[in-house]
Amino acid sequence: MTSAEMRCALAVAERHTLPVPRSEHEPDHVLASREVYDHSAEQYLEAVGSVVSPDFEAAIDVAVLTSFAQELASAPAGPVVDAGCGVGRITRFLADAGLDISGVDFSTAMIEAARSAHPHLRFDVGSLTRLPSPDHSLAGVVYWYSIIATPPQDLDAVWEELDRTLSSSGRTLVAFQAGQNDLIETPNAYGSATTLELYRHRVDDVVHSLEQAGFDVLVEVRRKAALKYETTPQAMLVAQRRQG
Ligand SMILES: C[S@@+](CC[C@H](N)C(=O)[O-])C[C@H]1O[C@@H](n2cnc3c(N)ncnc32)[C@H](O)[C@@H]1O
Repeated sequence: MTSAEMRCALAVAERHTLPVPRSEHEPDHVLASREVYDHSAEQYLEAVGSVVSPDFEAAIDVAVLTSFAQELASAPAGPVVDAGCGVGRITRFLADAGLDISGVDFSTAMIEAARSAHPHLRFDVGSLTRLPSPDHSLAGVVYWYSIIATPPQDLDAVWEELDRTLSSSGRTLVAFQAGQNDLIETPNAYGSATTLELYRHRVDDVVHSLEQAGFDVLVEVRRKAALKYETTPQAMLVAQRRQG
């Protein structure tokens, strides 16, 4: 990041004062993964870029994102949150598709990079279990590869926060690397002193946990590894609050 870009990021950061203070009571895995993402934000931006691209999203992924945006556009209007937004690639894609969307991430460095890359969009520090949104205020919540640092047994807490923030007609989109709940440990991830722990969630378990939390899964897309950096199948789910 150049010094001019850094100044811009800091100026934007000042405008968006952080509504969610960092909690000392977060589990160790949350603190560890946040440390790694803080450490890796610039490398992530360099490697993946700040917008959706065919190197990192297959055509079917883009179709799912586009269809999600279209469905929300024809539902009662409301704000949408990109939860675990990273540098704001998906936030930007869905904003360009017409959604009133902001990004949330627990990594301050990711949020600063997102603000710098997309100065016209709003980004806040927050966590999947503590979104900076009032009760039942959101028309949509997107988790695009952001539940991968959450252990399977902790997904319930994520869906509890979804339940608190989503409106009665709201929808959620969840994407992740699929597996058998395998834990992939990367010591000294991105040159940090920390071990990054990522999970390849079992699709049926994620579906079940959403159903247990009161959501119906409307769309379930599973695809094989297709992009050059992928080694596992990928899954995308669209769910809404159980009606009636
Ligand atoms: C693989 S990146 C994906 C970023 C973005 N969604 C994208 O597709 O470019 C995962 C992101 O989720 C964020 N994240 C992971 N666990 C989180 C949590 N519990 N609360 C908030 N953000 C989280 C990380 O900081 C990171 O920016």
